[in-house]
Amino acid sequence: STQTITVIKGDGIGPSIVEAAIQILDKAGCDFQYEYVDAGLTALEKTGELLPEATLDAIARNKITLKGPLTTPVGEGFTSINVTLRKKFNLYSNVRPVISFKGTKARYENIDIITIRENTQGMYSGHGQVVSEDGLVAEATSIITREGAERIVRFAFELARREQRQKVTVVHKANILKSTSGLFLKVAREVAAQYSDIQMQEMIVDNACMQLVMNPQQFDVIVTTNLFGDILSDLCAGLVGGLGMAPGANIGEDCAIFEAVHGSAPDIAGKNLANPSSVILASIQMLEHLGMKDKAEKIKAALTDVIASGDRTTRDLGGSHGTTDFTAAMLERL
Ligand code: NAI
Ligand code: MG
Repeated sequence: STQTITVIKGDGIGPSIVEAAIQILDKAGCDFQYEYVDAGLTALEKTGELLPEATLDAIARNKITLKGPLTTPVGEGFTSINVTLRKKFNLYSNVRPVISFKGTKARYENIDIITIRENTQGMYSGHGQVVSEDGLVAEATSIITREGAERIVRFAFELARREQRQKVTVVHKANILKSTSGLFLKVAREVAAQYSDIQMQEMIVDNACMQLVMNPQQFDVIVTTNLFGDILSDLCAGLVGGLGMAPGANIGEDCAIFEAVHGSAPDIAGKNLANPSSVILASIQMLEHLGMKDKAEKIKAALTDVIASGDRTTRDLGGSHGTTDFTAAMLERL
């Protein structure tokens, strides 16, 4: 039977790069049906809600979602739609791979790092956000549970084993954040002990930042808590040419949402300047998740060739073309 994919085109540059990815999936011969639903500003304007019930229904029903970036309005009491989606569907793992493509403006070569970010707890738990009445003191609660730490670390080691990776680096700050990061590290050590075939390395987050810039090739799989993972994965994107090259998958027991790491890029929205590679790479992650390895390889080969040859690439890649030309170059190769 045909797989139906829920598609949220998103805000800002979202629609242009998601449409590019869909054209590419179709051209590669993926026999998908698409159910288009709205979220974010687009949904707010149409329905008065950032995350309409129909959208939640479609995500739950089809299980697989391809999503463009969403603009969360600042202030006005809106909570982040992405955080809401991740919690609502218990998408506890955020898998963010970065790989070097020849032909980008990246400062490094031969990088192949997967950051696995815990997606529902830590500083983004949403608990205890208070500012005192006099506005002088603000606080927020970070939450780590044994169960939450265990399932994300296990996810990382299982992925490492499945993809024949050598090493998992556990990034933490247990020396200062003794309770939360401390529990995360303790549980990580217990889980790691069950995977004697994979090396476990511990690294404190500030050192990890420095090491990633000095010698990024030493990293293989990184697993860490929510806030550190958010920041480290953008850093990793910077190692391979920027946010335009960075995809992410939010994976839970039932559902998965595939997206770009970046946001709606209001500074370039509507100008046909966005690099669609992030969502194309997210589609590749989606195909791998669905066991469609051949299609994934086919699209990756086309992307590798477009970027390496500099044929109609976007400005962030050093080219002078727009989203639509880049997409045309991809479609020709497929
Ligand atoms: P951003 O990620 O949208 O943009 C940061 C910089 O990267 C900008 O200079 C932008 O032009 C550039 N950039 C991003 N994607 C690109 C692409 N595909 N090609 C070429 N250049 C690209 O971050 P910003 O500006 O902080 O956030 C804008 C909005 O996006 C906010 O409303 C934020 O809440 C939202 N956001 C949504 C996310 C999501 O839906 N997953 C994630 C991050 C932010
Ligand atoms: Mg982020």
